[in-house]
Amino acid sequence: MAWEYLKFFHLCFAFIMMGGIFLSQYAIVYARKTTEPGIFATYLKMSAVGGKMSMIGLVSVSLLGVLTAWQQDLDLTATGWLNAAYGTAILALIIPFFTFARWEKQAAQLMPDALTQGQVLPEQHRLVGGPQYRGINIVMTILIVWMLVLMVFKPF
Ligand code: HEM
Repeated sequence: MAWEYLKFFHLCFAFIMMGGIFLSQYAIVYARKTTEPGIFATYLKMSAVGGKMSMIGLVSVSLLGVLTAWQQDLDLTATGWLNAAYGTAILALIIPFFTFARWEKQAAQLMPDALTQGQVLPEQHRLVGGPQYRGINIVMTILIVWMLVLMVFKPF
């Protein structure tokens, strides 16, 4: 019966992860709209909090997922959808470190210049709103939807 509890907590952390993603995404949408440096900096911090929340959620979801599968007596190495889930989770963990987190950090490092000029710099808006940021957003959305397809339909 332990797997029911594990699955319940697995789902709780999936909601925490999704909450973090929404927080981060909303903060960035508003950061793109403002020209006021102080407000921009606050949204960047909110996005960083959301990012941490989603990463902690993803690691916990994955660990609890493996424990659930183990308690369900699934073969942890030879079950297709589980293997695909490991790969998807690893990609979803790694990609944001080299993209969102890096770009938002670069935008934060430009804050002193923005404060001197009294407005958000075009480079800061480009870092969090340019095509590269939007492109990775699409990649991450596809990964999350793919993960849900794996979980619910277990296609292989
Ligand atoms: C390495 C990562 C993961 C592993 C090993 C894993 C494993 C599992 C297992 C064993 C179950 C129980 C299946 C069942 O009882 O039918 C499950 C269910 C579920 N997982 Fe995951 N999971 C992982 C990541 C995720 C992530 C990131 C999400 C959210 C995006 C997620 C969402 C769900 C959902 C919604 C269910 C319920 C599916 C249903 O009952 O139809 N899982 N997962």
